[in-house]
Amino acid sequence: MNKKWLIGNWKMHGNLASNKALIEGIRAELGQPDERVALVVCPAFPYLFQLAELTRDSGIEVGVQNVSDHLQGAYTGETSPLMVKELGGSFTIIGHSERRQYQGENDGLMGRKALAAIDAGLIPVICVGETAEERDSGRTHEVLARQLDAAFGYIRTAHDKIILAYEPRWAIGTGIAATPEIVQTEHEFLRQRIAIRDKDFAAKLPIIYGGSVKVSNATSIFSMPDVDGGLIGSAALNAREFITIYRELLNSTPAEAA
Ligand code: 13P
Repeated sequence: MNKKWLIGNWKMHGNLASNKALIEGIRAELGQPDERVALVVCPAFPYLFQLAELTRDSGIEVGVQNVSDHLQGAYTGETSPLMVKELGGSFTIIGHSERRQYQGENDGLMGRKALAAIDAGLIPVICVGETAEERDSGRTHEVLARQLDAAFGYIRTAHDKIILAYEPRWAIGTGIAATPEIVQTEHEFLRQRIAIRDKDFAAKLPIIYGGSVKVSNATSIFSMPDVDGGLIGSAALNAREFITIYRELLNSTPAEAA
């Protein structure tokens, strides 16, 4: 049984005071973390160091929402994954649909960023997902396969510390999550697609779901067999909601998972 993952994507929210209050709230609600479910928060870049300090020895890990595809050099405005690592980050989200939509990121860049993150010792959380139009025209699997194959054109299954996130674009920030059946169907598709490359890796790869996960739908989504956790946006900005979702994930996890 795989370990589970709950990752909070804080997007472009927060300030020094509200971040401190949120983490203190999360720590108070959490009490003693359970090693079966890893808990990660991803603040905006300027607050990485603050969050690394605030979560020290708490069992909560820290990541960022994006990195450069280079480790260093003349790349004005970019942030190296090595810098993230040095400041206490362990994870980075890669290829989030908001970056595809607003920053013009494409599949190839996602693959290069994932590789740079791995080279720097970070765990990439690689996001894939279709738009509403792609789903409506029956192209979901074609799109997911293209995104996945592009990423694995750069990274290898030998890189065993990778998390895959299925985030359908139509479910992000809309309040309408994918149904548990859709989530299961797409996670199963992704796992099978990766199994073509490496069966053992596919069986162990954490595949988490993101898109309007909240307290009211977390249990049904997490009960699906191919769901290894959640990537949470707005509900991660509320300590009680985030930790209630964490407990739902914990409750869906057998005692032997670690
Ligand atoms: P919401 O949970 O706000 O829909 O955001 C999901 C997301 O984009 C996580 O990366």
